[in-house]
Amino acid sequence: MSAETTPTAPARDETPFAFSEASLEEARRILAKYPEGRARSGILPLLDLAQRQHGWVSQSVVEAVAEMTGAPPIRVWEVATFYTMYNKAPIGRAHVEICTNLPCWLRGSDEIMRAARDVFGVGFGETSADGAATVSSAECLGACVNAPMVQIGDDYYEDLDYDSAVALFTAIKEGRPVKAGSQIDRQCSAPQGTPTSLTTDPTTDEGGRWIAPESPAASSGTA
Ligand code: FES
Repeated sequence: MSAETTPTAPARDETPFAFSEASLEEARRILAKYPEGRARSGILPLLDLAQRQHGWVSQSVVEAVAEMTGAPPIRVWEVATFYTMYNKAPIGRAHVEICTNLPCWLRGSDEIMRAARDVFGVGFGETSADGAATVSSAECLGACVNAPMVQIGDDYYEDLDYDSAVALFTAIKEGRPVKAGSQIDRQCSAPQGTPTSLTTDPTTDEGGRWIAPESPAASSGTA
């Protein structure tokens, strides 16, 4: 989710944006995927590319993407404001997006917000005084099974509680490496601890031989 409220016009940047050589090369590679005359289809990936270089989508970013895709700047701005993953204002070195949707809330996202406030000293839509992080709220990020969770940059941090969130946010603040994924070493979204179901392989017998499934026709007596 974006770090700021809803702007009505792209914010002008003090340092005008221009694609770097590396970004330009990547932008050309992206645009080459689209048919002749369809460069506007590249607005989304080019905005993402520009944001990765610049940190946020300023007016000069909008104008650079508009120029590369042949779209009017207002069209690019419409796209940028529709998707919350584009930052319409400068953000901190890390963008901490806390999911506050229902499953995460039921599993304790209020505690994750409290941890963020305790570590960074800011609330939603604000950037810490040291510039380490901008904290935002996010709608469901699709990892409810490991709720509560946060997204920081491109990575998810899941199965959090107050203490693990404080440890995570402190590491982010201090620039130390952090481990993405489940913070309780759950394997993907498997049950925590040892398996409680499917503890044996139903497709093999005790000797490890494959058991052919009974056909539906045979079991219904019509074979
Ligand atoms: S509600 Fe938080 S990831 Fe779905």
